[in-house]
Amino acid sequence: MNKIAIYPGSFDPLTMGHVNIIERGLHVFDEVIVAIAHNTSKKTVFTEEERLEHLHLVFSANPRVKIDRFEGLLVDYARKTGAGSVLRGIRTVSDYEYEFQMALANKRLYPDMETIFMMTDGAYSYLSSTIIKEIIRFGGSAEGMVPPAIADLLKRKLAGV
Ligand code: COA
Repeated sequence: MNKIAIYPGSFDPLTMGHVNIIERGLHVFDEVIVAIAHNTSKKTVFTEEERLEHLHLVFSANPRVKIDRFEGLLVDYARKTGAGSVLRGIRTVSDYEYEFQMALANKRLYPDMETIFMMTDGAYSYLSSTIIKEIIRFGGSAEGMVPPAIADLLKRKLAGV
């Protein structure tokens, strides 16, 4: 099995919870491809280009982290990139059901691809992109919840400051 993992998601915005999973993923995999999924059913605040820019700001110095986007099925993207694994973080028991279903569907579609789950660090298990957006929109501080490099960009976009 090769040691390349895809870490897919919406990243609207990237949170410290995501960063934590990516950094720990690098202890297990040689390369982690952080891939923004083009999801037509999810209305995002940030455009795909903005989210790509956020990821580049945070990870451009790390040659083992690749930034990309994809459309269509994750399994097709995995075949195209040659990645043998998908990395997913589990925050709560309620995440498990959805993740389990996705992992089984992906396994059926592409038996050679493994889904590897990592428990989200307890310090971030309450976080979601939606919660962070709400905090910033109403003038709260999201310090420690998002990478410092994108904190100001978020404030400008959501709170107009
Ligand atoms: N820390 C903090 N928050 C986290 C987190 C972590 N470690 N892991 C996930 N989250 C949050 C995200 O911020 C997001 O919050 P939001 O709902 O408030 O925006 C939420 O958990 C889930 O988002 P994410 O992990 O980005 O997944 P998703 O549900 O948006 O997308 C894909 C999941 C991209 C993997 C899936 O839709 C996919 O594979 N799409 C491609 C099409 C496909 O193949 N479909 C068939 C799959 S069987």
